[in-house]
Amino acid sequence: MAAFSTPRGALGMLFAVFILLQAVVAFQHHAHSHPAHRSPQAMDAHLKETRALLEERANNVAIKGAADNGQYPRLEIRELQKKADQWNLYLLAMERFKAKPRNDRMSYYQVAGVHGRPFVTWNNQGPVLNQAGYCPHGQVLFGSWHRPYLSVFEQALYMNANEVVGTFPADQQQRWRNALVGLRMPYFDWAMEPPSGQPAVPTSIRDRTVTVTKPSGRVTIPNPLYSYSWGTSMPAEMGSGPSNNFPATLRRPVGTQNNNDQMNTVFGQSRVGWRQRVFALFASKNNWGLVSSAQYGVRTSRRNTDSFESVHDEIHGTAGGNGGHMSYLDVAAFDPIFWLHHTNIDRMLAMHQLLTPNTWVANGNINRNMAQWNAGEPKNANSPLKPFTKNSNGDYFSSQDVRETRTLGYYYPETQARTYQQVVSAINRLYGQGERAITKRSEDSDEDSIYPGRPFKEGDYDTVLSVVGNKFAMPGSYSVHCYLGNKPVSSNSTANSTAPYAPANSTSAAPYPTTNTTTPATNGTSDCGGYGKGYVGSHTFLGGSVAGDSSAPVLVEGSIPLTAALQGAQEKGYLASLHPDHVEPYLAENLSYKVIGPDGSELDPEAIENFHVQVKSCPVAPTKGDDLPSYGDYIELPRAKLPASKPWTYTPGPNDMPEVPEPGMTPVEPSYPNGSTPWAEEGYCVTQQTIVYVDESGKLLYEEKF
Ligand SMILES: *[C@@H]1O[C@H](CO)[C@@H](O)[C@H](O)[C@H]1NC(C)=O
Ligand SMILES: *[C@@H]1O[C@H](CO)[C@@H](O)[C@H](O)[C@H]1NC(C)=O
Ligand SMILES: *[C@@H]1O[C@H](CO)[C@@H](O)[C@H](O)[C@H]1NC(C)=O
Ligand SMILES: *[C@@H]1O[C@H](CO)[C@@H](O)[C@H](O)[C@H]1NC(C)=O
Ligand SMILES: *[C@@H]1O[C@H](CO)[C@@H](O)[C@H](O)[C@H]1NC(C)=O
Ligand SMILES: *[C@@H]1O[C@H](CO)[C@@H](O)[C@H](O)[C@H]1NC(C)=O
Ligand SMILES: *[C@@H]1O[C@H](CO)[C@@H](O)[C@H](O)[C@H]1NC(C)=O
Repeated sequence: MAAFSTPRGALGMLFAVFILLQAVVAFQHHAHSHPAHRSPQAMDAHLKETRALLEERANNVAIKGAADNGQYPRLEIRELQKKADQWNLYLLAMERFKAKPRNDRMSYYQVAGVHGRPFVTWNNQGPVLNQAGYCPHGQVLFGSWHRPYLSVFEQALYMNANEVVGTFPADQQQRWRNALVGLRMPYFDWAMEPPSGQPAVPTSIRDRTVTVTKPSGRVTIPNPLYSYSWGTSMPAEMGSGPSNNFPATLRRPVGTQNNNDQMNTVFGQSRVGWRQRVFALFASKNNWGLVSSAQYGVRTSRRNTDSFESVHDEIHGTAGGNGGHMSYLDVAAFDPIFWLHHTNIDRMLAMHQLLTPNTWVANGNINRNMAQWNAGEPKNANSPLKPFTKNSNGDYFSSQDVRETRTLGYYYPETQARTYQQVVSAINRLYGQGERAITKRSEDSDEDSIYPGRPFKEGDYDTVLSVVGNKFAMPGSYSVHCYLGNKPVSSNSTANSTAPYAPANSTSAAPYPTTNTTTPATNGTSDCGGYGKGYVGSHTFLGGSVAGDSSAPVLVEGSIPLTAALQGAQEKGYLASLHPDHVEPYLAENLSYKVIGPDGSELDPEAIENFHVQVKSCPVAPTKGDDLPSYGDYIELPRAKLPASKPWTYTPGPNDMPEVPEPGMTPVEPSYPNGSTPWAEEGYCVTQQTIVYVDESGKLLYEEKF
């Protein structure tokens, strides 16, 4: 049992204690008490002990997250940056982590490599079952699997930060030890409005270099958040693919040049849409199984049309662009922005957990061959999250084990109090269509600017373009870009991206651009390299560098929100209301979209197998008191005729996800075609968690079992 304290001055009196009761193996924790102010000696002893704990991973990694045995918040990157010393330590830790040799299991190379390429084993798992990565996408374990995955990264980050502290002269060590306390990996919230006057994507992620304090003093180093470099050439085990010819990660590349400025422009253009997506997901209060996974299936008779995974896919596609690493599942994790992005997704899922506390991972089947599983294997919340072990004996985490983030030593600012109300207030503040948005609009008279939205009123509707497609239809990602009012000239004018890259054996001495600014490599196509006039939003189908087996398509669904843009049209007088009677004819005449393939060329939507779009709308009842508005059931608006919008019937595939129970219902174990059961899997482990709340003196307040 371990007792952890929340930071001082926090909401306060509640100190959570975790007891992990497990049928098979007990979580190996040691008892610690943490006085508020530690002496340097106590801190030294503490660091030695945490080092020893890390070294005990003789066989399997004992994944614990940061090794300080405390619970601290993961901060938004712009908040972490305000803490100068901790920020400095974070950057130095990232630099050191990335420089660790490839044969170290906790090196950046190997940790990033777990996700996709190289298709090799990790953490003494034995040979991979298939030439594939470990990351489950488009299936039920998406949300819970990435939780211990992020903790492996955080563990390594912390370990490197600890080592960095040791490189400072003795008389400076106390300062950096103080900065180490509570260091956690930050998240990048791409959906909130950036702080006044700041760009959509912080320059801390985009600058080529950064000035830091090292033992030698202030020095400028390559920014560790800018890119990851494999060195002078790509390791052969990374295999072939669009990314293997250029040995550093790229974002929206033009040739072999990063185009971080264009990334900033399109993140800025997309933010209003992303904000609407996450707001609608939270407000749906759909069970966790529904909101966490993008998989389309039997469940789509339900009222949601989107998921946090789908939004996640779109951010991947927007950061990577055509040919960039974030656009390929098998290499995305090497780009440092991956970790900032995924931490934000984990945060949103942790927030959603507090809206629907009685729901958790749904049952379902693995839908394609992976490193650790074969297609068709049934999974549930107690299935082992391979390859992540919670101790050096090789016992796996299950989804149940990681249901509470504090078991991995962290929480988020919005989940600190673990209350519904704290989360709801944060959602309204960060993603709600508040008064601030309206004020902003009145200052901004540009006809073509993206309307930021307004609060829902009585009689309003939420309208989306729902898109369904095969996640692995093509080698790489494809994106739907949606426009209102200005039908885009179907042009192919966006000449194909010059990615992918130089030949593998290129002798070019300078793989990097010669300047270190964030200036775009070109001016892109038009509109500062953005998406152009009338743009309202996009959705990306995030694929791998090789297309999947077309006989077993992995159908996923996402939605492009139209509501804020329609509110803008209403304000300009083009629309009488958001009611379908008014919206339908407006969209029939003014809505259009285009599909851009992995190489940047425009595709014919009708020619893409399993690709479907539908305009859908649902009534929204405005917020009552301090809660979220309630969204009704989405129904199709058939008059908005678009390419690939013909009616179609979904035929469940062999690996389809079973029905997800409604909130509060007991999950029913589905029956599997060949009679196999989740509990037949090696490492299956039924786990019960009890959270015990105590006050500051350790007196019991109440217990929660789940
Ligand atoms: C740009 O950064 C690279 C490292 O990323 C460094 O080697 C190079 O010297 C820098 N160039 C300039 C002009 O500052
Ligand atoms: C059922 O199918 C899974 C996935 O193909 C396979 O691993 C398992 O061995 C099968 N079980 C039986 C009892 O045939
Ligand atoms: C873009 O690339 C595709 C595939 O390589 C090719 O078929 C197409 O002609 C290219 N389009 C343009 C405009 O160059
Ligand atoms: C690069 O590889 C190609 C084919 O694999 C070969 O024809 C060419 O000579 C190589 N170039 C260099 C510089 O080695
Ligand atoms: C980009 O546009 C600016 C302003 O229109 C112009 O000065 C600059 O030369 C352009 N750069 C390129 C690479 O076309
Ligand atoms: C299409 O949009 C324009 C404004 O861009 C508006 O004037 C027109 O009425 C719309 N069409 C319909 C059928 O509502
Ligand atoms: C774009 O160009 C490619 C190749 O020229 C062609 O195959 C494709 O159909 C074009 N797309 C559209 C929407 O015209």
